[in-house]
Amino acid sequence: MAARKRASTDSSAERQQPKETSQSKPQGSNDPPIAPPKSGVILKLSFFFLVPYFYLIFYHYKIDSELKKSILINAGLSLAGFFVTVKLIPVASRYVLRRNLFGYDINKKGTPQGTVKVPESLGIAIGIVFMVLAILFQYFNFTADSNWLVEYNAALASICFMLLLGFVDDVLDVPWRVKLILPSFAALPLLMAYAGHTTIIIPKPLIPYVGLELLDLGWIYKLYMGLLAVFCTNSINIHAGLNGLEVGQTVVISSAIVIHNIMQIGASTDPEYKQAHAFSIYLVQPLLATSLGLLSYNWYPSSVFVGDTYTYFAGMTMAVVGILGHFSETLLIFFAPQVLNFLLSLPQLAGIVPCPRHRLPRFDPQTKLLTGTNDGTLVNFFLRQFGRMSEKSLCIYLLVFQAIACFFCFLLGYFLAGWYK
Ligand code: UD1
Ligand code: MG
Repeated sequence: MAARKRASTDSSAERQQPKETSQSKPQGSNDPPIAPPKSGVILKLSFFFLVPYFYLIFYHYKIDSELKKSILINAGLSLAGFFVTVKLIPVASRYVLRRNLFGYDINKKGTPQGTVKVPESLGIAIGIVFMVLAILFQYFNFTADSNWLVEYNAALASICFMLLLGFVDDVLDVPWRVKLILPSFAALPLLMAYAGHTTIIIPKPLIPYVGLELLDLGWIYKLYMGLLAVFCTNSINIHAGLNGLEVGQTVVISSAIVIHNIMQIGASTDPEYKQAHAFSIYLVQPLLATSLGLLSYNWYPSSVFVGDTYTYFAGMTMAVVGILGHFSETLLIFFAPQVLNFLLSLPQLAGIVPCPRHRLPRFDPQTKLLTGTNDGTLVNFFLRQFGRMSEKSLCIYLLVFQAIACFFCFLLGYFLAGWYK
């Protein structure tokens, strides 16, 4: 959230910060450049993901060469996107600061770091890189009459619309009850163009009771698609507020998605099924690469913030691939921590319990440790369970929990294979 926004809506303590307006002297020109990217973290994270991923692509499965070629071209483009992102963020940071789009790091309040203007909404920079990559990629994969082309472009329209609405939210500070429904507008291009099936497979153990193997849900299926988009975007946005958490969770989930896609492609013989999962890879690889570039600046201590532009964009991209790849039930298990956070948040979101502007832990400037509050978030829940800890440790704990949820999903898939569908 930008200073323009915060000046009108934040708690009294934050209101003591000097009020910035768009009419005031342009900021940015005198601000020091942002800290260099934290390449070490990115290298370690990429290593964990790339080893199993490329092992599956090159050795474990026999993937047909055409499909493999498309995936690798997309990976190459994504790698280029990573480097462009790393170069672009410091430049974009200067521009957003000049327009007073910055935030103060709430979990550093009372220390010198808490007074630094941190550039906000850098999601806009990586969103643009993502869009360029995703648009260019069509040249390498699709033929002009491909059915996929329609849905692919509808998916891009939804993601781009979400990027716009996220940026609007960052700049204008839309009331949060309104911003909850923004993603349902952004999902419209996809819902209108969707020509795929609207049936669900009834789990084998339930077939005797339902009496059907396939159930056509019709318009209810489209409603479900819209709700999934609303859930994925908002659940990323409200599991936030710690340096590196917004992007970190996206990196973990996206890694799980592409590994899941490769496993499905490798195990299947149905060309349409493979295409659906390849489609997901084509959008998630660029998301992962650009997010890693962003994380190199957003990791603790953050030199940039991502804004709702990023949380909405990332959530929408994952929702879109879950819908068009037909693996939304798997996606929801990857999102287990977000589901938990959402359930914990319900009393505050529903207005049953008072809800402060930022439901963050309490920061002690002396010890630099965080203490959990009674606000219903997973962040506070972890602090209450595991005791006081630093912001960085807490973020790592939460990301490991996210990775465990994804791993559990793979185990579940392994044990339920054949029994469930
Ligand atoms: C949503 C959540 C809110 C949560 C907030 C955290 C609801 C209804 N809303 O609000 O509970 O507290 O996300 O972002 O559940 N910031 C930091 N450190 C970080 C990241 C962000 O201090 O690592 C602060 C900065 O001041 C930044 C601001 O959070 O400017 C961004 O807030 P914003 O994303 O606009 O909040 P919401 O998405 O509206
Ligand atoms: Mg946010």
